[in-house]
Amino acid sequence: MQNDDAGDMPVTVIGLGLMGQALAGAFLRGGHPTTVWNRTAAKADRPVAEGATLAASAGAAAAASPLVVVCVSDYGAVRELLGALDGVLDGRTVVNLTSGTSAQAREIAGEVARRGGTYLDGAIMAVPQGIGTADAAILYSGPRQVYDLHEPTLKTLAAGTAHLGGDHGLSALHEVAVLGLMWSVLNGFLQGRRCSGRRA
Ligand SMILES: NC(=O)c1ccc[n+]([C@@H]2O[C@H](COP(=O)([O-])OP(=O)(O)OC[C@H]3O[C@@H](n4cnc5c(N)ncnc54)[C@H](OP(=O)(O)O)[C@@H]3O)[C@@H](O)[C@H]2O)c1
Repeated sequence: MQNDDAGDMPVTVIGLGLMGQALAGAFLRGGHPTTVWNRTAAKADRPVAEGATLAASAGAAAAASPLVVVCVSDYGAVRELLGALDGVLDGRTVVNLTSGTSAQAREIAGEVARRGGTYLDGAIMAVPQGIGTADAAILYSGPRQVYDLHEPTLKTLAAGTAHLGGDHGLSALHEVAVLGLMWSVLNGFLQGRRCSGRRA
């Protein structure tokens, strides 16, 4: 089942670092009523100037929307945030776009389920400047029916949106595989440049 009124779907973005600001900006440009929260409040200035509503706490931010996107530094931060979301996740979907491991994704899926929510894990295959454009891809894993419900809204963030499967660990696995390949290729290129520079 898909949500046909995706453009009206209220969304929350928790974490307004480089990537979180880009995510909030894309939702706002897509016409979504967007609530934001960040530990350091000053980072909300730009999204608020663009039309976002600043919540007083992470809990109030999550309570404001059926779809709650989390994008912070690491899973330690995600765990801390979940502690603040007790009592508000019932019936909501958490989409966690923080980079991590498959085991961490599965652990957080369990924590969200214990709080009554549904969970999708996601891996962003883009830089912040690409979010909301045809150049961005985001890979999701978790229950298919949850993904289908939110796919039209999630497509606001990246034209290349794909569901990898029901195992919450799949998107993290894919991210690690792609980044491993990317860094190997880049290291090979840099080594090659260095060696050819020595010969010149
Ligand atoms: N940037 C990219 O190109 C890119 C690409 C793909 C994936 N990602 C992933 O996206 C995630 C965010 O990246 P980013 O570039 O936005 O990082 P960033 O600019 O360093 O922002 C980190 C965010 O995490 C928040 N945070 C850290 N610890 C916290 C805690 N204990 N409680 C609450 N909030 C906390 C920070 O809040 P404060 O402002 O209060 O410090 C800030 O909003 C990372 O997992 C990264 O791997 C990034």
